[in-house]
Amino acid sequence: MSATTIQTKTRPIMRVAMVGHVDHGKSTLVGRLLKDMNALPAGKVEAVAAMCERRGMKFEWAFVTDALQAERDQGITIDSSHINFSSNTRDYILIDAPGHREFIKNMISGSSDCDGAVVVIDAKEGVREQSRRHALLLHLLGVRQIAVAVTKMDSVSYDEKVYQAIKSEFSLNLQNFDIEATRIIPTAGLNGDNVVTTSENMAWYDGPTLIEALEEFREASDAKDLPFRIPVQDIYRFDDRRIVAGRVDSGEILSGDTIIFSPSNRRAIVNSIENWPNENKLATAVSGDSIGITLKEQIFVERGEVISHADNPPVETNVFRARVFWLGSRPLSAGESYRIRCSTAECGVEVESIEAVIDVAEMDSINNEQVPSDCVGDIVLRTDRMLALDSGCRIVIADGYNVVAGGLVDTEGYPDQRQVRTQKATNITAVEHGVSRKIRAERNGHAGGVIWMTGLSGSGKSTLSVELERQLFARGYQVVVLDGDNLRYGLNANLGFSPEDRSENIRRAGEVAALFAESGFIVVTAFISPYREDRARARNAATENFHEVFISAGLEVCEERDPKGLYVKARAGEISDFTGVSAPYEPPETSEFEVDTGALSVDASVDALVNYVSVRFPLNSN
Ligand code: ADX
Repeated sequence: MSATTIQTKTRPIMRVAMVGHVDHGKSTLVGRLLKDMNALPAGKVEAVAAMCERRGMKFEWAFVTDALQAERDQGITIDSSHINFSSNTRDYILIDAPGHREFIKNMISGSSDCDGAVVVIDAKEGVREQSRRHALLLHLLGVRQIAVAVTKMDSVSYDEKVYQAIKSEFSLNLQNFDIEATRIIPTAGLNGDNVVTTSENMAWYDGPTLIEALEEFREASDAKDLPFRIPVQDIYRFDDRRIVAGRVDSGEILSGDTIIFSPSNRRAIVNSIENWPNENKLATAVSGDSIGITLKEQIFVERGEVISHADNPPVETNVFRARVFWLGSRPLSAGESYRIRCSTAECGVEVESIEAVIDVAEMDSINNEQVPSDCVGDIVLRTDRMLALDSGCRIVIADGYNVVAGGLVDTEGYPDQRQVRTQKATNITAVEHGVSRKIRAERNGHAGGVIWMTGLSGSGKSTLSVELERQLFARGYQVVVLDGDNLRYGLNANLGFSPEDRSENIRRAGEVAALFAESGFIVVTAFISPYREDRARARNAATENFHEVFISAGLEVCEERDPKGLYVKARAGEISDFTGVSAPYEPPETSEFEVDTGALSVDASVDALVNYVSVRFPLNSN
């Protein structure tokens, strides 16, 4: 292969957000850090010190940072919130994060993206609600490297006990959200203790200084070992060539690799990787690189798709959980519609349900119907098209042009829909039937169709289905029951209860039901069929006469009945992924019929069903 690697080595950049309560000594810390890293223009400190002297004020490093922000000459780039300095190994951009809403919005929408963050806590003030809120927010924005600087240690006489108390309280708080601070450093900005030089006032501390903690932060290119992901930003066309452009999110790609585009599910082989937009050929690219890819074969792909290796793709789904930070002025409630962005993909989204609201003050989940502004919620989202997602990837929710939330995706509990949507066989041709549905219906005396019952375990699906079958048969119907438990002994014996297995279970059941219906039968099914998308697929398979019947007894009723003793086992943790307890059930939104067995007796329920079927599938009198 003729590809040559041309590496234009620039110094790596580390972007660090500095967050903390206004009075917690953040700018003093930053001022000291700049001074000790020799990042300040000559004479600057002296000039500020002289000014303080003249005005009879105590010198503060914060004045230096303020003075720097007021002038933009001196050859160092300073705007109101970005300050640069360098270490031996790389360049730093410190992003001042005052914690106000605009900043949070910028963080959420990615315009203040950072690789790491320092949360500043005043030794005297201790951990504040805002410190917790900031750490959680950073985590939700995908910042995985958070160091903590306990500042103003001089104001508490460098007391180790104060430091230890803050350290254990904050660590515990963070643990609740599976966050771990990379380092917790006792500092004093004023005298430079543990900022760049090791403090002699805190001999009891043997950890790193602040700059050492920053030097430990990994750059984006370190995400090289993760699965390869690159969201498609654009497709450029030159002559007959097409270049797929984007920035590598994680992992590594090599020329010649087999890749897959999600959610379109199209495969291709990488012909070349180019150092977009310079058109230098590269043999490989890693996270952080902006590249253009040309493909061996011309396939139609679009902005918004995610490229991965064919053997390690993201999940494809249109329903998932997310933990979001809600900024909207009105509380977030179920049923509302917004736009969602995930990398370069964008589509409509509906808030399906709110599972928990997190009280940041208490660091605890509370049950609530709505997520108030400035709070964190665990919600279930349903998008209007398939997305390619990984657990932990970031989303932004917008209301018109307004960013209203940002957060992290959690795909657990929902099936990867790629499998069920992908047809493996090629070179196949459908055969036309000689005996039509119509002719069969004439002979049978009624049309074929599917009565698809869905509901929780214990809602009565099986009981009703066999009784319905008996009564319809007695009336002269060709009728058959397909039952979840029964099929799991045979056709579906190789399937368990993972989201993917359930999806496959329902795919097969839907196809079998369709075949029976096609051959003239009324098929009554009794599957939990917890996912709405799977039921929609069963409906599609049947093409016509599909009736979704919601057996709507609620969880309490089903759990109270517990006919097979499974709820007790599930609550005791003996059965995992149990629907309604530890796995989701998505009730139908538009079922054709509903039978609430919590309110109706078995007889009344069967009567209602027999009546429903006889009206929809009238028997011919001849
Ligand atoms: S479905 O979710 O894939 O549609 P299906 O209807 O085939 O489920 O099977 C559900 C039946 O399996 C339940 O009625 C119950 O008897 C049994 N079962 C065993 N384990 C589970 C579980 N983890 N969740 C739900 N049902 C289970």
